[in-house]
Amino acid sequence: MIRRAALTMLLGTFVLNAAAQETPSLAKAYEGRLKIGAAIEPSQLTSAEAPLLATHFNSIVAENVMKPTDIQPKEGAYNFAPADKLVAYAQGSGMAMRGHTLLWHLRTPEWMWTDKEGKPASRDLVLARLKSHIETVVGRYKGAVYAWDVVNEVIDEKQPNCLRKDKWFATTGDAYIEQAFRYAHAADPKARLYINDYSTDEPAKRQCLERIVKGLIARGVPVHGVGHQMHVSVFSPSVESIDESLTTFARLGLENQVTELDVSLYRYQAKSLSDTEAKLLQLQGERYAALMKVFLAHPELRAVTLWGISDSHTWLNHGEYEGRHDSPLLFDRQQKPKPAYTGMLNAAK
Ligand code: G3I
Repeated sequence: MIRRAALTMLLGTFVLNAAAQETPSLAKAYEGRLKIGAAIEPSQLTSAEAPLLATHFNSIVAENVMKPTDIQPKEGAYNFAPADKLVAYAQGSGMAMRGHTLLWHLRTPEWMWTDKEGKPASRDLVLARLKSHIETVVGRYKGAVYAWDVVNEVIDEKQPNCLRKDKWFATTGDAYIEQAFRYAHAADPKARLYINDYSTDEPAKRQCLERIVKGLIARGVPVHGVGHQMHVSVFSPSVESIDESLTTFARLGLENQVTELDVSLYRYQAKSLSDTEAKLLQLQGERYAALMKVFLAHPELRAVTLWGISDSHTWLNHGEYEGRHDSPLLFDRQQKPKPAYTGMLNAAK
């Protein structure tokens, strides 16, 4: 019985490996132009998705394990092992490694906000803790992580000053952004440092992001690029608005990166699909091709990271999206290439 199971598993791995090899490598197709990355959890290094990762991608980023809540859950008690696994894999397979993220309001550990007496932490204490976190994490992966999402989702276009009204702002004013970049640069002067956000194509958001970034540049803050998450759908936003946003930041002399690409089959906030899945998967293929063409037209954009490998593991079917059956990535739940894969491959030709 056990032997038979082992044989089936072996055969399964063989079939998967063979399937991965039949499909030309996306990383090779884009070589010299774009790094093709994937966000992963350590468990995916040994899952059914592993052959796809090895074949089609030449860059990785931690989907979760480098976030502050995950890597420093208690003050001074770091949990490096899961992140170390990813870094070791990247190094062992000659892949590039992005770092995500040093500061995010949704994944800041609660201990950040209270001092030893249980009182609200002061501005100085919070900045000292931020410095220590960044020095430790960036320092550990110095030379191994080539680019960091230093701050994630700090922009709120509804605020007059364009910054999210969170605990970071309440405690430090706007100092935390500038300081995060300065601490990261001091810890690894060669790392490329990004400000990362979603919906960067929306005019109000884009203008706010531009205002904040211009302010950082004017103050000599080491910000090197803008990370565009790019959680888009088959239907929106338009490639023109994405192109306009990339152009805005390229004109400031910054790099652009697409950092979290996926293409939902659902219309914005819809609970059900608006067409047959087969039709939507075709449209998704065209959409991936159109997006990649825009990215290729931007010489300052040298890396595109997908937020996952295959539809068997995607954030878009969990949390607020529980109950949907979304399929936003390049490979299906059986790790077979989708029209999305073909669209992306053909765009490189
Ligand atoms: O690991 C625990 C598990 O032990 C527990 O049983 C389970 C129960 O809910 O939760 C697991 O943690 C989840 C974690 O993902 C790992 O799977 C969290 O609940 C869940 O909230 C977390 O979601 C992640 C989310 O960021 C919040 O950190 C998603 O996987 C991840 O894809 C998503 O990624 C973000 C980017 O960092 C920033 N941009 C948006 C993007 C999508 O939301």
